[in-house]
Amino acid sequence: MRMYDIIHKKRDGGALTKEEIRFFVEGYTKGEIPDYQVSALLMAIFLNKMDRRETVDLTEAVMHSGDTVDLSSINGLKVDKHSTGGVGDKTTILLGPMVAACGVPVAKMSGRGLGHTGGTLDKLESIGGFMVEVSSEDFIRQVNEVGLAVIGQSKNIAPADKKLYGLRDVTATVDDVSLIAASVMSKKLAAGSDAIVLDVKVGSGAFVKTIDGAIELGQIMVDIGDGMGRAVIAVITGMDQPLGYAVGNALEVKEAIATLRGEGPQDLRELCLRLGGMMVYLGGKAKTPEEGSELVLDALRSGAAFEKLKAFVAAQGGDVSQIESPELLPGAKIIEPVLSLKSGHVAHIQSDEVGISATILGAGRETLESVIDHGAGIVLVKKVGDAVKQGEVLAYLHTNSDQRLEEARERLLGAYEIQAEDVPVPKLIHAIVR
Ligand code: URA
Repeated sequence: MRMYDIIHKKRDGGALTKEEIRFFVEGYTKGEIPDYQVSALLMAIFLNKMDRRETVDLTEAVMHSGDTVDLSSINGLKVDKHSTGGVGDKTTILLGPMVAACGVPVAKMSGRGLGHTGGTLDKLESIGGFMVEVSSEDFIRQVNEVGLAVIGQSKNIAPADKKLYGLRDVTATVDDVSLIAASVMSKKLAAGSDAIVLDVKVGSGAFVKTIDGAIELGQIMVDIGDGMGRAVIAVITGMDQPLGYAVGNALEVKEAIATLRGEGPQDLRELCLRLGGMMVYLGGKAKTPEEGSELVLDALRSGAAFEKLKAFVAAQGGDVSQIESPELLPGAKIIEPVLSLKSGHVAHIQSDEVGISATILGAGRETLESVIDHGAGIVLVKKVGDAVKQGEVLAYLHTNSDQRLEEARERLLGAYEIQAEDVPVPKLIHAIVR
């Protein structure tokens, strides 16, 4: 078999066989096929698309490019959750404890920030002492004892996805539904949970811009799960503005803690109750997702979810006093307001621009070597639908270095679209695919 022929076939609109897909994934993972040939193939896939069968074959090939995790020694049905990437998305930090408090074990591998989107591991590491590198034995023991563990993805889970993702990122081939579906599902299937709730983001801040496209993506991922005996529900949620008000690592942990204490933002709370309800349902502890949401709400109201967060943080070496007193988490020496240049109503907040502004302030990585400032980020004051007057505060910039403050301010101001007419509060959950 020759890589040239595979590229040629896809370039002319043909469907690749299972063997051809396996050949290029294996060859690329081993370093036998060069980046330039895989780049050409990715662009041909992007332009000519893959059908359902090819997408399933690609998912399987990527999943088997490395290790698969065996979670069978954890009691009960294990449920995972994955978001296709958002700004201000701190749901895992709340959802894990909420769902675990309902008796559903959560054994989760998470990632670091990518591009303008933040990563759960970076957020959790803003808690003093918190360790994300945990051996597989300790990971399994912790899930059995505490009900919840969140760790970094081991190097050898779906290694082909790491290479392919890096290449897609620089060849403008990220936003294809088959490539996204195979990327997400290969990792999730390799990570070993019995059921998966997918949060498929749609909108200007997401990789998929239209609701139809997001439903198509959700459906493909549900079908892939079905074909492999895993229950999958995809929830299509809006990313036309950041989730909640806080963007940046310790700021997001603080918002997650506030939400677990009943004080957080409405959109974040609503999303967690819905996603959590589905996880509890798939975990077999509720007869319907609605009943699952009731159980999750009880865990929130009774304080059981907050207690679970503390037990989880303690088990991974984190400083629990920072959870009890979030003002002890890393903060910022400089907190600067961003003032609105005009009066009107907030029509839109370009989430990726907010993510980039937070990165400029130190909350994300601009190069692989960048060191994250855990206290840096942005706290929005105005969200879509809010009225604003000229000179009123739109948001606060938090940073420990004033070097690029003006650049961050410009970016954030550019993210806000303000119009004269009233704007309705945008819908958060657009569709559920199962
Ligand atoms: N998230 C992933 O894990 N992969 C993609 O391709 C897009 C979002």
